[in-house]
This record gives sequence, C-alpha cells and structure tokens, in this order.
Amino acid sequence: MSYDVVVIGSGPGGYGCAIKAAQIGLKIAVVEKRPTFGGTCLNVGCIPSKALLYASEVYAEVNRGFDELGFKVSKPNLDLIKMMDYKQLVIDSNTNGVAFLFKKNKIDAFIGMGKILATGKVEVTAENGTKQILKTRNIVIATGSDIAAIPGVEVDFDEKVIVSSTGALSFEEVPQSIIIVGAGVIGSELGSVWHRLGAKVEVIEFLDKALGTMDGEISKQFQKLMEKQGISYKFGAKVIDVKKNSRGAVVTFKKIQSDEVKKIEADVVLVATGRCPYTEGVGLQTVGVALDECGRVKIDGHWRTNVRGIYAIGDVVKGPMLAHKAASEGITVAEVLAGQAGDVNFDVIPSVVYTQPEVASVGRTEEELRAAGIKYKIGKFPFTASGRARAMMHTDGFVKILACSRTDRVLGGHILGFGASEMIHEIAILMEFGGSSEDLGRTCHAHPTMSEAVREAALAIFAKPIHL
Ligand code: NAI
Repeated sequence: MSYDVVVIGSGPGGYGCAIKAAQIGLKIAVVEKRPTFGGTCLNVGCIPSKALLYASEVYAEVNRGFDELGFKVSKPNLDLIKMMDYKQLVIDSNTNGVAFLFKKNKIDAFIGMGKILATGKVEVTAENGTKQILKTRNIVIATGSDIAAIPGVEVDFDEKVIVSSTGALSFEEVPQSIIIVGAGVIGSELGSVWHRLGAKVEVIEFLDKALGTMDGEISKQFQKLMEKQGISYKFGAKVIDVKKNSRGAVVTFKKIQSDEVKKIEADVVLVATGRCPYTEGVGLQTVGVALDECGRVKIDGHWRTNVRGIYAIGDVVKGPMLAHKAASEGITVAEVLAGQAGDVNFDVIPSVVYTQPEVASVGRTEEELRAAGIKYKIGKFPFTASGRARAMMHTDGFVKILACSRTDRVLGGHILGFGASEMIHEIAILMEFGGSSEDLGRTCHAHPTMSEAVREAALAIFAKPIHL
C-alpha cells in the first residue's frame, strides 16, 4: 500500500493531521499502537480526567448542599463504579468518534506498533506479531509523551498504590489519603477529584508555589483557594524516595532550605512530576532522526526533522505538552505537506487547569515580562464585583490582563475563576489580532456575564473599571 502521508500516533496531533490532510485530498494512513484512537488525551488523559472532574464537582456541590439557594437535598451516595462507567462511556464516545472521522475521511487506520524502517517505509506490527509494510512519501511522527518518573528517583509504579495519572483515573475505591508529588496541572486536577470524593490530599512540591508556570499572583491565589477547600501543601520539598509499605506507601522528601529529611505515609501516592517525549521503538535511530538535549525530536520551523520526508509534531517535539498545541501543529503540518502555507502562533497558546475555580492563561506572565525587560501595565478585576458571579455564588478569583506600556497591545491574560477555560479565548483572539486593552475595553459585552470581568480588567488598564 502506498500513501502520501503515514502518521504514527492518533492523539490530537496525529488524528488532527490525518483528517486535515485527507480533507485537502491526500491519501493517508494512521498507525496506532493502542486498540483505540485518540492517544493519551482521549484514553487516559484530558477526556477521562474531565469526566471525573465534572462528576466529582457535581457530587461535591450536592454534598455541600443548596440551603442558600432555598432548597434542601439529601446527602449523595457515592457509587464509584458507576462514576467510572460514566468516565468509560465518555472515553468510548470520543475514541469511537475519531474512528468514525477516519472512516468518513477515507483514512486507512492500522492498529499496531509503527516503526520507521527507512524514509518512505513504515512497518506495522500488530499485537499478534503480524507485520505489514506501508510505503509513503512522507511520515509524521506524532507519538506523544509518556509518564516521566521523578528525576533521579526510581519509582516502581504498580498503578494501584504508587500511581501515575493513568492509575489515578481508575482507583477502585476512594483512598483515605493520597500524597501527590508535584503541584503542577495533573497534581492539581486529580488532587481535586479525589479530595472532592473524600480523600485527604497532601501535595509535595519542589518549588515554592503551585502551578509553577502560571502568573505568580494567580498561582498564589489558586493555592489559597485549594487550601481553603482542604488540600494541603508542602512547598520547597524535594521528593527523594517513594516506596510501598505495609500501610500503603511512604514518601521521603528533603526540605530544600534546611536539608532536613522527612517521611510521610498515605494509602496511595500519585507521582505527577511531568511527562517525557515518547520515542522508543519508533525506529528513529535506524533512519538517523536527531533528538535534542531533552530527548525530543529535533525539528525546524516547518516541523521537518533532519531526515527528508519525516516530520514531527506534538508532545514529542519542543513546546508545551498540550493537546491543542499538538492539534494545531498537526493541522498546520498537513497544510505544509500539501504545499500550502501553515503556521502556529506559539505566543498565543492558551493553557487551562480544570480545577474549581478554573485557571486559564494565554501569553506572557508578569514574571516573564519583567525578565524580558518589557514595560507593561496591569488591569485586574475581581469576580466579587461581578453581578453574574454573585448570582451564581462563583465570586472566587479575578481576571488579570497585561498590556504593553508603550503600545497598549495585550501581551497576556490570566483568569482564575468559574468558566475561565471559556473566557480565556476572547483574550486569545484579541492577541491573535494584535489587539489592545482599549479594543477589549470598548467592546460591548453582554450583561450580566462572567466575561464582563474581562472587559472590566481591560478598562482598568486604559481607563477605569466601572464596577470597582
Ligand atoms: P507539571 O510539569 O505541570 O508539574 C510537575 C511538578 O512537579 C512541577 O511543579 C515540579 O516542580 C514538581 N516536581 C518535579 N520533581 C519533583 C520532586 N522530586 N519533588 C517534588 N516536586 C517535584 O507536570 P504534570 O502535572 O505531571 O503534567 C504533565 C504534562 O501534562 C504537563 O506538560 C501538562 O501541561 C500536561 N497536562 C495538561 C493538562 C491541561 O492542559 N489541563 C492536564 C494534565 C496534564
């Protein structure tokens, strides 16, 4: 069989690339090692975690009660098995959706391990060992990423007691206590899920703050809200050992400032210290595809590797490990392969943490602007001053917008609050068009909406907010 493009990996990067290339009219094959399509995101990442985040959020809300709203409900009974069934249903509908789109776009899908044998030649090995060879003009490596253990620490993941995000999406019962290593995105989201369902959650973090890459003010406020909800943190603590014991597991950490070594125990430990590019068994060495110093596939500005006809996208290359970044790259590479112009604006890639309240960010943080020596103005608006937020009892958090002092061009937007994951996109679109705080502040926003807070934050830069 001969193709224009063979895509290895069917995550958001790979399937987006395949569908776009097929829409343009190219003959496409996708190779996927999992039995279902969609990669980490759909099978054991974004989608299942969002299903559990939603279910646990509703559970926690009902558990808290609605007395203030004028009605009483009885305490909910948790049926974790059913909640997991719901999660699986969501996974299945999404992975089946990708299979349907492959069929609709006449994409040939091969289940098996894809290995590049030479330029233009991909071998697919099915689970039963059967092999077939696909011939192609181009290859796109979209193999994604894998769990990274704690740097310098050997961790024996059994996915029951010592778990990665995969195991933490499938506990058979709610653990009484969880230690989470890493206060990043996974630690925050899955910590929220299990805390809402009744676990005692303690997070150990190397840095002095949660969500280390987010704007400092946002992460500080986020931490306060998480602590108010009942999650506890140990900052400036480097985990140096994780082992199973008779109770569950014991975590050893060293306080960075004092070098003091401490141990804590819990029923389970979730290690959420990042992910690493997945390049094993793909045949990169055979064809001489170069990797960078971080083990990622090295690419140029057009996603070309050093080997002619081989491209790479998503978590396996540089940039944030985000499904939507991979998807944008996939679509763009399809255009490039079809001889069209394609580009991804890496300055405008939103990032969201789906806790409650949500955290969303696009563009530069205050710390990044300061480090780059760029003079900026800040506009902030709290949800406590929003009529809609008050009506929905979602007054936690604020909007923060950063604009260039000289040009007023918006350089970054950061939102902590209910619905932040949706609101962030008006700032992203504004930034994509090079818009200013005045453009945003002069745009009529529907009343009453949470988005009015975004407008008010913009007004706080070039004029004054109305409701403060
Ligand atoms: P992360 O990079 O967000 O956070 C890892 C944290 O672990 C860091 O704060 C780091 O300082 C800490 N850490 C590292 N070694 C440590 C040690 N020895 N002791 C204590 N703390 C230590 O990584 P995470 O949360 O595992 O996420 C992995 C990737 O998946 C990220 O790139 C993330 O963006 C992506 N992801 C995105 C989601 C979203 O967009 N909502 C959801 C889940 C994951």
